[in-house]
Amino acid sequence: MEYLKFYLVFSCWIKFAASVLSSDVPQAPVPIPKEKLLVLTVATEETDGFLRFMRSADYFNYTVKVLGMGEAWKGGDVGRSIGGGQKVRLLKNAMEALADQEDLVVLSVDSYDLIFAGGPEEILRKFQQANHKVLFAAEGLVWPDKQLADKYPLVRTGKRYLNSGGIIGYAPYINRIVSQWNLHDNDDDQLFYTKIYLDPLQRESLNMTLDHKCQIFQNLNGAVDEVLLKFGTDRVRVRNTAYDSLPVVVHGNGNTKMYLNYLANYVPNAWNYEHGCSHCDDDVVDFSQLKEYPNVLVGVFIEQPTPFLPEFFQRLLTLDYPKDKLKLFVHNNEVYHEKHIQRFWEENRNVFNSFKVVGPEENLSQGEARNMAMDLCRQDATCDYYFSIDSDVMLTNRQTLKLLIEQNRKIIGPLVTRHGKLWSNFWGALSLDGYYARSEDYVDIVQRKRVGVWNIPYMAHVYLVKGSALRNELKERNYFVLEKLDPDMALCRNAREMTSHREKDSPSPESFHMLRPPKGVFMYITNRHEFGRLISTANYNISHYNNDLWQIFENPVDWKEKYIHSNYTRIFTENYLEQPCPDVFWFPVFSEKACDELVEEMEHYGSWSGGKHQDKRIAGGYETVPTDDIHMKQIGFEKEWLHFIREFISPVTLKVFSGYYTKGYAIMNFVVKYTPERQAYLRPHHDSSTFTINIALNNKGIDFQGGGCRFHRYNCTIESPRKGWSFMHPGRLTHLHEGLPTTGGTRYIAVSFIDP
Ligand SMILES: *[C@@H]1O[C@H](CO)[C@@H](O)[C@H](O)[C@H]1NC(C)=O
Ligand SMILES: *[C@@H]1O[C@H](CO)[C@@H](O)[C@H](O)[C@H]1NC(C)=O
Ligand SMILES: *[C@@H]1O[C@H](CO)[C@@H](O)[C@H](O)[C@H]1NC(C)=O
Ligand SMILES: *[C@@H]1O[C@H](CO)[C@@H](O)[C@H](O)[C@H]1NC(C)=O
Ligand SMILES: *[C@@H]1O[C@H](CO)[C@@H](O)[C@H](O)[C@H]1NC(C)=O
Ligand SMILES: *[C@@H]1O[C@H](CO)[C@@H](O)[C@H](O)[C@H]1NC(C)=O
Repeated sequence: MEYLKFYLVFSCWIKFAASVLSSDVPQAPVPIPKEKLLVLTVATEETDGFLRFMRSADYFNYTVKVLGMGEAWKGGDVGRSIGGGQKVRLLKNAMEALADQEDLVVLSVDSYDLIFAGGPEEILRKFQQANHKVLFAAEGLVWPDKQLADKYPLVRTGKRYLNSGGIIGYAPYINRIVSQWNLHDNDDDQLFYTKIYLDPLQRESLNMTLDHKCQIFQNLNGAVDEVLLKFGTDRVRVRNTAYDSLPVVVHGNGNTKMYLNYLANYVPNAWNYEHGCSHCDDDVVDFSQLKEYPNVLVGVFIEQPTPFLPEFFQRLLTLDYPKDKLKLFVHNNEVYHEKHIQRFWEENRNVFNSFKVVGPEENLSQGEARNMAMDLCRQDATCDYYFSIDSDVMLTNRQTLKLLIEQNRKIIGPLVTRHGKLWSNFWGALSLDGYYARSEDYVDIVQRKRVGVWNIPYMAHVYLVKGSALRNELKERNYFVLEKLDPDMALCRNAREMTSHREKDSPSPESFHMLRPPKGVFMYITNRHEFGRLISTANYNISHYNNDLWQIFENPVDWKEKYIHSNYTRIFTENYLEQPCPDVFWFPVFSEKACDELVEEMEHYGSWSGGKHQDKRIAGGYETVPTDDIHMKQIGFEKEWLHFIREFISPVTLKVFSGYYTKGYAIMNFVVKYTPERQAYLRPHHDSSTFTINIALNNKGIDFQGGGCRFHRYNCTIESPRKGWSFMHPGRLTHLHEGLPTTGGTRYIAVSFIDP
């Protein structure tokens, strides 16, 4: 009771004290109404950066006046050298009309490399709190005249130097500053403002200060490490961790444009965890409104021996796009692939609108070939899009081309990744010296945990470029360079660090031509859909006859797609297998291609054993029941074959002989050839195996007559083996069996004695 009484008294006293205190504190100034804020910016062209700026301004309902649109830019190459005087001249002209509006607050900002992260109310509140008539952005680096550094007032914490990318102030004061301009368009604007600011008399009379702690203006140059994304429920902000501020204007000055692009993938509302991507469906191309499909030049680049090239071409053919709208340009740098291209060309040359192949005899460098293809589109006014694709891109999404066109960007690529790896076709970030760096969101984008259309600094392998962009922004042929990164740059890097990065998740700049965005043009990657994968071209040994057979380790997904029977998985989902004789199981495992290529490989090798008892290939040198065969080991295929057994046979074993866990080990793995002329049959025998698999590699009735297999104990005969199907039966004791005579043609089977 006593306690409660005390509490009541105490809390009343607190309330009383608080009311007394608050009446002592000067009232917060009346907020400036947001109608009193006018944003002025200079832009001579509607670049991608400008449109992004306007989108962020519109989102917060800023009133923006754009100065100089349509004027030629004369302000020099801002960022690299001095310049920007044109901006001051235009601002000076604009301010003349506004000079007498005493309560008007003018915010002058750049637009190509700048976005808003907050709204007008917030900016005005912070401006009032700063309690000056004019506030400039600040940065930690002094530019353009380093000798002026000492003239700056000292600051205890915060950025000391002026940056002219952002100015906020009352109109009459801004006017008094810019009206002093009497220099040339290519003179430096920042130097102009700096000199005024550093003049103590002007600084006081014009009541100027700098936004030292990034309350309003965040310049990223020299400050990239200070900022983080801060995700809110419907907005994303940039937080400055050095001053614990939430800047309202974010400026990618200096060489931080790429970093601004990264931030702007989120800020202010481009993407967040709640609603995902909010601009992905803006300005999309609606195919249903088009009179006809756009013309696309498809540039295909085969720059190194590439596994599964015939499959790559098949996927181009099955793209859901009218083929008469596609012109094909193929650069093939490999003699090895000429046969594949020849075959595809013969079958499909009339399918496409046109079909041009530049072969290895032309001795074109990769860069020359890519420029040549791009030029074909650039110089053809009817070419609406240029679609570049390297032979190691397996597009599994038939809609890819349409989906990219729909997105309506100047340059856009589909995300493709190496199966099961973080390796992809883009870089999420660049280090400040222009080399690879992993962006904070790279892994989430690759794994599609964040889905959207992302502005990125580098990509390779597959992308779509608008023909109109090639004829405008990208018309200077060598401006849009596709080249190896300077090897010197690579050398300068810590080699170990770079290697580990690259292996993990990036295309290697030494072996791929990467695309970098030309100045002013944004380059995007979309992961809104699954598009396909990048295959590995490393360790592709082309000294065999059918080299893809060996790709089971390097490209397991493509290997399975090409070589495993399309009904194989139904064994597990629908019990899709048969038992023609007791404990003899029969199931589909090899595709037609697997069967054909394995036979071809063996015939190409050609050294059939002849079915003799003397056999140097096996331990002991004597075979009691010899067949006319070639061992997998002889063609260097044993490792791959055993892997196939573990991956595709073991699961079936476990299903049909439940409780038996096979080691998937086998010494005897071979292809047998039966012909009436050489060896037509095999007498009854047991196998030295726990169980045996026997895969038919060709068709009864077409490739051979007769054949089949008889199991004596059960008096059970299987007369019509099916191509690609395997028998699986116990090897010893119960399953005495014989190979029935092949009476015509040639019969091939692949056999393994498993767990001997
Ligand atoms: C901008 O204005 C529109 C229409 O007046 C309004 O619906 C919207 O909420 C405003 N946006 C902001 C961020 O205040
Ligand atoms: C600057 O202006 C503010 C009001 O905007 C005023 O309170 C302050 O005293 C001025 N400072 C100087 C140095 O004139
Ligand atoms: C191919 O080009 C390279 C470099 O341009 C040159 O060194 C080489 O001799 C050329 N080969 C042929 C066969 O022309
Ligand atoms: C490629 O395969 C051939 C034939 O099996 C073999 O002799 C050669 O060593 C292999 N090359 C590489 C680089 O593995
Ligand atoms: C898979 O099975 C279906 C019927 O169940 C059959 O129509 C199809 O031809 C089979 N696929 C192959 C490659 O044999
Ligand atoms: C084996 O089966 C065949 C018919 O399938 C039959 O003619 C024959 O008599 C059987 N032999 C034995 C020993 O049962």
